Amino acid sequence: MSIFDTFTPRAGSGNSKWNIPEGAIPMHVADMDFDSPPEVCRAVADRAMSGIMGYQGFTDEYYEAVINWFNTRHGVSGITKDMFIVSPGIVTALTMSVQALTEPDDGVIVQSPVYFPFYSAVDGNGRKTVHNDLIKTENGYRIDFDDLEKKAADASMLLLCSPHNPVGRVWTEEELNRLFKICKKNSLYIVSDEIHCDFILEGKHHSMLEVAKGYDRLVVCTAPSKTFNIAGLSNSNIIVPDKETRDKLQKVYRRDSIGGHNPLSMAATIAAYKYCAGWVDELNHYLKGNRDYAVERLSEHGIDAIRIEGTYLLWVDLSRYSDQPAALLKEHGLIVNEGSTFGDNGKGFVRFNLGCPREGLKKALDRLFEILDGID
Ligand SMILES: Cc1ncc(COP(=O)(O)O)c(C=O)c1O
Repeated sequence: MSIFDTFTPRAGSGNSKWNIPEGAIPMHVADMDFDSPPEVCRAVADRAMSGIMGYQGFTDEYYEAVINWFNTRHGVSGITKDMFIVSPGIVTALTMSVQALTEPDDGVIVQSPVYFPFYSAVDGNGRKTVHNDLIKTENGYRIDFDDLEKKAADASMLLLCSPHNPVGRVWTEEELNRLFKICKKNSLYIVSDEIHCDFILEGKHHSMLEVAKGYDRLVVCTAPSKTFNIAGLSNSNIIVPDKETRDKLQKVYRRDSIGGHNPLSMAATIAAYKYCAGWVDELNHYLKGNRDYAVERLSEHGIDAIRIEGTYLLWVDLSRYSDQPAALLKEHGLIVNEGSTFGDNGKGFVRFNLGCPREGLKKALDRLFEILDGID
């Protein structure tokens, strides 16, 4: 029995993932059905009970907790307090980066299939999406470096997802070095979304803060939100090493009056990064078990699922059943993300959330097979 086998019912709480018709099974929104670590819950409650909940700034304890986490957990050195941009979230940071660091009609490279807000950050701000589609191989997805070389010449920025949602890759140091070399040669801004960096089932996360050390056109987006299941508290840490790039980005945040300091998320972040490393290790162990369980059961049914190396989001090929499998499953009470929303090359796939107790995962897979067997 693991602590992650415990389930706190969420229906009726307003939790987005559970805002669904009665009886339906939610495997879509990237929230986990696990309680946040007790240390985090206690820190938030203590801060609330202190009665001090006015406008907030960051404390030295906050900066130290974040810097120390990235140093001890991911081997990132050299982050200093002045490099932080406070943001309510990473999606906001993607949009702000596009606005601040590129011009209208500039090309911004995305590696499809990819987390759908990457597209709105580009198109929604009047820039051109430049597709550097990932290549599906027998061993998972790979970057098409030849295509990237060609496209980089006409682009201003690359939005990197590392680890990658939805294909679950933990990019190797070699891959990232190669990608960085191409970006540097073409003076591209690199905006690296590393929100999933703590979910490592295989391999090691290599932050662009290390891979591209010293590069001036770099924005690295981090957050405790996915790791500790506190996305509703709205907090992220955007690290921008170069002052000129940071000033440009900061200016757009100020122009649009976007801040991110929040006394409750600050308390949660400090407690999480200071006291919950062991919890994250146990979580990864549990998620790895969920991945293996799901991939094996799917394979027994002749269904191909990517054996993800990171994140808790499984990328499942249901193309032989439908071009829009999620719509089909939804009719029968199983809610997953439609692959095509992640890009044209996601058509026929679904994204299936593994962040739940094994019992819940079993029920969801049982429902999936029941539905699919009814079609076969
Ligand atoms: C790759 C990626 N980036 C960003 C986010 C959301 O970040 P935020 O809630 O901080 O905007 C998610 C959420 O699923 C994600 O998967």
